[in-house]
Amino acid sequence: MQPSRRRLLLAGALLPASELATACLKTTAPVSLGTLAAPARPPSVLATDESWWAEVARQFDITDEVNHLENGFWGAMGRSTLQAYQRHTAEVNRGNAWYGREAYPAAYRAAHADAARLLGVAEDELVFTRGATEALLALIGGYNRLRPGDQVLHADTDYDSMIDAMQWLRSRRAVQVEGIALPPVPTHDQVMQAYADAFARLPRLKLVLLTQVSHRHGLVIPVAEISALARARGIDVIVDAAHGFGQLAYAVPDLQADFVGINLHKWIGAPVGVGAVYVRRGRVADIDPYMAVKDDGRIFSRVHTGTANFAAYLALPDAIALHERIGIANKRARLLALRNRWVAAARDMPHIELLASQDDAQASALASFRLRGKAGKADNQALQQRLLKQFGIFTTARDGLASGSCVRVTPSLFTGMQQMDRLVAALEQLQRG
Ligand SMILES: Cc1ncc(COP(=O)(O)O)c(C=O)c1O
Repeated sequence: MQPSRRRLLLAGALLPASELATACLKTTAPVSLGTLAAPARPPSVLATDESWWAEVARQFDITDEVNHLENGFWGAMGRSTLQAYQRHTAEVNRGNAWYGREAYPAAYRAAHADAARLLGVAEDELVFTRGATEALLALIGGYNRLRPGDQVLHADTDYDSMIDAMQWLRSRRAVQVEGIALPPVPTHDQVMQAYADAFARLPRLKLVLLTQVSHRHGLVIPVAEISALARARGIDVIVDAAHGFGQLAYAVPDLQADFVGINLHKWIGAPVGVGAVYVRRGRVADIDPYMAVKDDGRIFSRVHTGTANFAAYLALPDAIALHERIGIANKRARLLALRNRWVAAARDMPHIELLASQDDAQASALASFRLRGKAGKADNQALQQRLLKQFGIFTTARDGLASGSCVRVTPSLFTGMQQMDRLVAALEQLQRG
């Protein structure tokens, strides 16, 4: 008796992996982004077209219980990504290990290839992680060219857990750990000078951590220029691009750095749990294999290898599709327009101290402020709470800058200009105590 097609299919005998994926994920339907299409206008003009950005905002399902100006934590998924994520979660669960073992590897490779294309890197230079922390800890902890007595460098604008990881190198690699503080609102030349001075001052400097967009106040530093300076002195650079990729228009090799950690769940809008490590071809041996993982010489052995969230990776191409439909140049221009709306108004308020560059090249969606003379941690936590309780505006307090604490404001793609105006009105009222 002939086995039924269904039985053969169950045994995985009939179908190649690509078709097996379709068989497993029976209910998968193409994700629709509707008619969303960016009008052919210069990004700087489109940036203030509220009706088009309202159409973009309709791609997101965000509660209006508060005025959301804290979008630096992670980036909400668009509806199409959320639907895909939910569908993949249900389907993976339904397909169970059959799907996981037979079809998932090909689907994972397709998502990985899409990410490599987006980042402008080769597939063997990129491996997924669960976020930027995992990616950067693998790079900082794994970087194996340090010798006892070497020097490593971080700055006050770096992310707290990466500073901790750099500090940890003192005991892990017996190196000298150096920190610099950038001026509160540095110019491009001041940033370059700060790194050039440190490079000149530290003769045994071997490794520098560079945070492309600081999570504390949104400062964008010229990573490629600093990397070139470092390279000329034989210093390696690890770039924290957690807030850079998806906000700024570039391909990863443009950073001129051999080691980069990113996430795709902030500014690409992937489900939480999607990040990546980039290691330039030829440099994988300079990063240790991940704890107890056999060294196969490939980037994939440099990170956590356990079971991850299948559906999060599977939904990444949907997030990329929405990102590309809006267009990186349009995203960048819109986020700057939203940021500059409140920053320009606050610049005229004597009671506000802005931590926000006047130079758009150094600006991002994130920018911070504090009440003049109030740089304490508790002051800024109280200010963040006041904005929430009195004005319904949700922000976050940040500390760790050498100049003191602040409140960070971060609009997103679904933020309307009127939300920024409500913030401006609130900032004016703060003067009254
Ligand atoms: C500058 C910076 N680096 C790294 C991270 C960590 O990213 P993840 O949450 O993906 O681990 C963040 C998160 O806010 C960040 O702002």
